[in-house]
Amino acid sequence: MDETRVYPQGYEPHDEPDSFDPGLRNQLLDYILKSAPTEVIDTDLFAVMAKRRSTRKFSEKPVEATKVDKVIAAADTAPTAGNYQGFEIFYVRDPKKKQLLVGACNNQPYVNAPVVLVFCKNPSRVRFDFDEYVLKKFAIQDATLAAGYSQLAAQALGLSSIWIGMFDEQKVMEIIGTALTPSSVLCMGYPEQTRFPKPRRNLKELVHVV
Ligand SMILES: Cc1cc2nc3c(=O)[nH]c(=O)nc-3n(C[C@H](O)[C@H](O)[C@H](O)COP(=O)(O)O)c2cc1C
Repeated sequence: MDETRVYPQGYEPHDEPDSFDPGLRNQLLDYILKSAPTEVIDTDLFAVMAKRRSTRKFSEKPVEATKVDKVIAAADTAPTAGNYQGFEIFYVRDPKKKQLLVGACNNQPYVNAPVVLVFCKNPSRVRFDFDEYVLKKFAIQDATLAAGYSQLAAQALGLSSIWIGMFDEQKVMEIIGTALTPSSVLCMGYPEQTRFPKPRRNLKELVHVV
């Protein structure tokens, strides 16, 4: 085993194919993504994008395990540099750790959400023969993009989320028990109320033709 690599603990999905074979390409991933529709599922990607709005107030309603699996599987479909998947997901289930994360995230109370995923960079997985700087840059992009995919998947499943970027890296690493640097903390649950999306600047101001 490569001692320089740091892996999180294993993850047990809610359901697995009858003849689960970890050697079969994408078997578990496809199984979870294609599993029977859950309570709410919006398959119109653009409608999902148009409706997404960050939530900082979550209802007490627990999130179904199958939805968590889908949100995690969605992250695994994101593109990554060289397909090296230079990121890891820490699924924080321990209520004490969630509460500790509130403190590590600048005392943002909503971090103690029904579902908390910490996306970490893992540049040691990125096996390009490039400078460490480039590998780290790839890993942060991998981790960020994966979290973005999860955020959209959460919306499609009738959940809402808040992306947390304001945290003390060292404290988060201590709480979740890793040497890998976090890039974002994604907190999810059923929203207490559904709100309209926030305004954006005019598209014409956003795009620069060169
Ligand atoms: C990189 C990044 C960091 C963020 N950090 C925080 C944060 O620490 N706390 C928080 O409440 N929201 C945070 N947000 C959420 C933004 O405030 C929110 O996405 C933004 O206001 C736009 O609202 P919307 O997501 O509803 O479109 C962050 C979002 C991003 C993309």
